[in-house]
Amino acid sequence: MSEPIQRPDFGGPFPEHIAIIMDGNGRWAQERGMRRVFGHREGIASVREVTTACARMGVKGLTLYAFSVENWKRPRVEIRYLMRLLRRFLVEERPTLMENGVRLRAIGRLETLPDEVVRVLRETEELTARNEGMVLRLALSYGARSEVADALERFARDVRDGSVDVAAIDEETLRAYLYDPEMVDPDLLIRTAGEMRLSNFLLWQISYSEIHVAPECWPEFREAQLLEALESYARRVRKFGGLISEGPNSVSKAREQRA
Ligand code: FPP
Repeated sequence: MSEPIQRPDFGGPFPEHIAIIMDGNGRWAQERGMRRVFGHREGIASVREVTTACARMGVKGLTLYAFSVENWKRPRVEIRYLMRLLRRFLVEERPTLMENGVRLRAIGRLETLPDEVVRVLRETEELTARNEGMVLRLALSYGARSEVADALERFARDVRDGSVDVAAIDEETLRAYLYDPEMVDPDLLIRTAGEMRLSNFLLWQISYSEIHVAPECWPEFREAQLLEALESYARRVRKFGGLISEGPNSVSKAREQRA
């Protein structure tokens, strides 16, 4: 396994779970007179660099929005290209994932993906299952509203079968019915290409996440841009709806650090 790299110290908290909306692949390519799909191809290099940097800095979880339920509305040729890229990524990245101790998981309506993608996805999940480093989650055929609808459907079935009492529903019970109950809420949500939208991504889980919008399109988002996001996160004061909390990211501590 490769050596961990020094975690950057920006004098504030460091996120355990980072979620990223990778936007702007098409624009990046079109601005260079290329077809949109070349942006997706270049985006793979960013996925590799950001995943490796996060794993080596000791981030515990990284969740990437790779294909949304709405993305099925794109032209057939673009969808086919994305599925081919995904399949190739899931095979070719195996040595890098193993070398960096990364465990791969997927969330979303995986049954709607092509069989061949599901097959290599399951193989890669199995191959990396015993790795003890970062969990890389790919959100595939994912939508936050579908996730909540799917969770409610499964909950309703369990109530009907008598295995769960309807009175049992609370926030933690609902979490257990989400696609990956082990996933903790993201501390930091990054979106690239300057857009200020959530686009149906992890809506339940990002209730208290800090948001960082990077101006760069996803193919230009590399380790340097990740460090900028981490630096910006280190300056945030997280209150979770309360007033002044104690601890490393309390209001008073943050003021002291900024002084
Ligand atoms: C948004 O760019 C990006 C996507 C719809 C897919 C993201 C996919 C990749 C980075 C490559 C595949 C990923 C993996 C993990 C194998 P856009 O096309 O919406 O860009 P635009 O807003 O400029 O049109």
